[in-house]
This record gives sequence, C-alpha cells and structure tokens, in this order.
Amino acid sequence: MTIEKTRLLDVRDLTIEVETRSGRAVVVDGIDLHVDRGETLGIVGESGCGKSLTMLSLMRLLPNKIRVARGSAVFEGRDLQTMSNADLRKVRGGDIGFVFQDPMTSLNPVMRIGDQICEPLRYHRGMKKDEARARAIELLTLVGIPGPEQRLQAYPHELSGGMRQRVMIAIGLACDPQLLIADEPTTALDVTIQAQIVDLVKTLRTRLGMSIVWITHDLALIAGLVDRVVVLYAGTVVEDAPVDALYGRPQHPYTRGLLASIPQINDQPTSRLSSIGGTPPEPGRRPKGCPFAPRCPLVTAVCHEQVPRLETLSDGGPHRVACFAVETVQEAA
Ligand SMILES: Nc1ncnc2c1ncn2[C@@H]1O[C@H](COP(=O)(O)OP(=O)(O)OP(=O)(O)O)[C@@H](O)[C@H]1O
Ligand SMILES: [Mg+2]
Repeated sequence: MTIEKTRLLDVRDLTIEVETRSGRAVVVDGIDLHVDRGETLGIVGESGCGKSLTMLSLMRLLPNKIRVARGSAVFEGRDLQTMSNADLRKVRGGDIGFVFQDPMTSLNPVMRIGDQICEPLRYHRGMKKDEARARAIELLTLVGIPGPEQRLQAYPHELSGGMRQRVMIAIGLACDPQLLIADEPTTALDVTIQAQIVDLVKTLRTRLGMSIVWITHDLALIAGLVDRVVVLYAGTVVEDAPVDALYGRPQHPYTRGLLASIPQINDQPTSRLSSIGGTPPEPGRRPKGCPFAPRCPLVTAVCHEQVPRLETLSDGGPHRVACFAVETVQEAA
C-alpha cells in the first residue's frame, strides 16, 4: 500500500536580496523546496549559504535591508508572503513553531521560563493562567526536564545549555504546530548533548506526528533523523534526495565534498580529512554560470556559462540534482 503524501509547505522560486553599498545583491536565488505532512526535512549547507534567511523569510522576519524579491511560500494552501499580518501572527508560533540556534539570545533573560512558555499559549490558544501553567508543566515533562514545576520559576541563566535548548523546543511545540522549524538548534552544545536533543526530537516527531525542518551544516548529525535532505549552495538548491540516496549515492560534487569531510569510524587516526577548496561567492559576486563552478572538480566550459537547473536523475525516483556533469531527465518547465 502506498501512502499518498500531501504537501504542507511549498516554496517556489524564493529569491532574497540584500541591500549593499553598491546596490542590491541576491543571497537566495530562486529556491524551490517542499515539506510533506509528517516528513522531516534536513536543510544542509555551509555558513552563509542562505539557510537562516530562507526560513526567516517564511515568517516574514527578515532583518532590515533584506527583502524577498520574488517567490511564494504556500503553507496549507495559503501564501505566507501575501497573507495579512493578523493571519501571519496566528501562523507564527501557532501552526509553525520555531527553535533558534542560540537559546541565550532567543530566550528573554529577565523573564521566567514558565512565563515564556505560557505567553504563546495565552496568545494563540487563549488559555487562562492556570490552564497555560498546566500545559507548560506538561511541555517541560515532554522535553525531558526534571522537576518541571520548580523550573517554571527559573530564569534562563539558571539552566544548562542543553536544558535551555529543551525549553526552546518546548516553546516551539507549545501550540501543537504542524511544522517545527529548527535552525541549527544544537550547534552551541557539546556532542553528547547534541545527540540527546536529536533523540528527543525523533521521539517527539513519532509521538506528535508533526513535520520538521531541521537546518544544519552537519550532515553527520542528522543522518538518523531526517527523511529527506535538501543541500543548499550559495543560495541555490543543488541536490534534493531521500536520506538513503543522498548518503549512499550523492550526485552533486558539492554534496560529495561535504560527505567526504565527515570522519569515518575506520579512518586511520593519521589520515587527513578532505575538504572542499575555496570559498562560496560573496553576495554580489556570484559567477555567471553555476555558483559552484569555481570550486568544482568536474567543471567544464558550460558550467561557467549557464546555471544548471534542478532536475530529476535519469534513473527516476525523487532524487534531484542541479549539475551539468550528472545525467538527468529534462523536466517540463
Ligand atoms: N543582516 C545582514 N545584512 C547583510 N547581509 C546579510 C545579513 N544576514 C545575512 N546576510 C548575508 O546573506 C547570506 C545568507 O545568510 P544566512 O544567515 O541565511 O546564512 P546561513 O546559511 O544561515 O549561515 P550560518 O550557517 O552561518 O547560520 C550570507 O552570505 C550573508 O552574507
Ligand atoms: Mg544561519
């Protein structure tokens, strides 16, 4: 029996520009991506490739001087880019929950944990004080915080880094979102705690049945968590594949480079990790053709002239790649 997948979020041609002293520069260039119901999607790419701006733009939370130049982001049939501010406020923190990279800057340092968890419950769900408090205790228990009743009284600095990140997840989950977007939620933590948070999110996903977008630069961390991976390079999607295909048969030279830089268990301690030479283009200095061409081991003349489109692999299946060196099937425009 095949279970029909239904779209929860559909992002099309998302293009984001930043204002620089020498004019506007494109930082996210025509991204297409989607998330199905119940699916966990990993978004991976080096620092500066546009992961955070992409996700912030969905919630219309882009910083000053950065704007969406074109594109749409349809969530549950409605475009987040064009809906009214009042409707968007209901979605933000309600139907879509967020967990940000650094809890020390996202949590309010002078507000008790309990009040920070109760705020969205009262705003989005209209809960009375006692009801919100009971739900806050339930949420802290859900994310594995011991002594939740006492913790409600604590301030963020009184908790460990791992505990603060659990609180952030509790806030993200407060209103039973259909989609939880986590932007590098574990980078500030040590590896043992990172693994615990990934395990926690895995358990919660099964229990709560929501969709998750997990943004990271660490392909190894999310291998056991995600169903599918989208690889970003310089503000474009270069590969989009189910997790097994991506790790087992990576196609784009950039994805291969990322995977080759993950240490393997049977590597000799003295062996050097390979890394991708060079750096991504600065905003405003994107090359004319494929943005990866200057660093690519498979580069040919066409790569400097044209931008490859994201196309399905010729062996069929849902694996897509944007590279002239890979055999793909032309998709109808
Ligand atoms: N406030 C800003 N002003 C100007 N340019 C910005 C600003 N924020 C981001 N950028 C530019 O936009 C690009 C994408 O930034 P973004 O924060 O989305 O990257 P990222 O993939 O999330 O990186 P990281 O892994 O470091 O979080 C970067 O190249 C950066 O130079
Ligand atoms: Mg970021």
